Amino acid sequence: MQSENLLVTGGCGFIGSNFIRFMLADANFQGRIINLDSLTYAGNPENLQGLGQ
Ligand SMILES: NC(=O)c1ccc[n+]([C@@H]2O[C@H](COP(=O)([O-])OP(=O)(O)OC[C@H]3O[C@@H](n4cnc5c(N)ncnc54)[C@H](O)[C@@H]3O)[C@@H](O)[C@H]2O)c1
Repeated sequence: MQSENLLVTGGCGFIGSNFIRFMLADANFQGRIINLDSLTYAGNPENLQGLGQ
């Protein structure tokens, strides 16, 4: 079981948002994920829609 917390940069982009969804779908991951994104043209918070705050 993984209980580390993760800091993801660019989590509102294509790779970052899919990585966050991948990690949260893993039942063995019990940590928290902090997303740090400067919301450039490529960042879209809707990529994380449906996930908890
Ligand atoms: N539907 C698709 O197939 C699709 C869609 C988008 C991108 N792509 C591909 O994915 C690859 C790029 O994906 P990606 O996720 O690396 O890039 P991205 O451009 O999709 O996302 C980058 C993220 O990083 C953020 N960001 C940029 N500078 C930052 C900074 N200084 N601090 C914090 N956040 C910052 C942006 O706001 C954005 O959310 C490319 O190969 C592209 O062609 C594919």
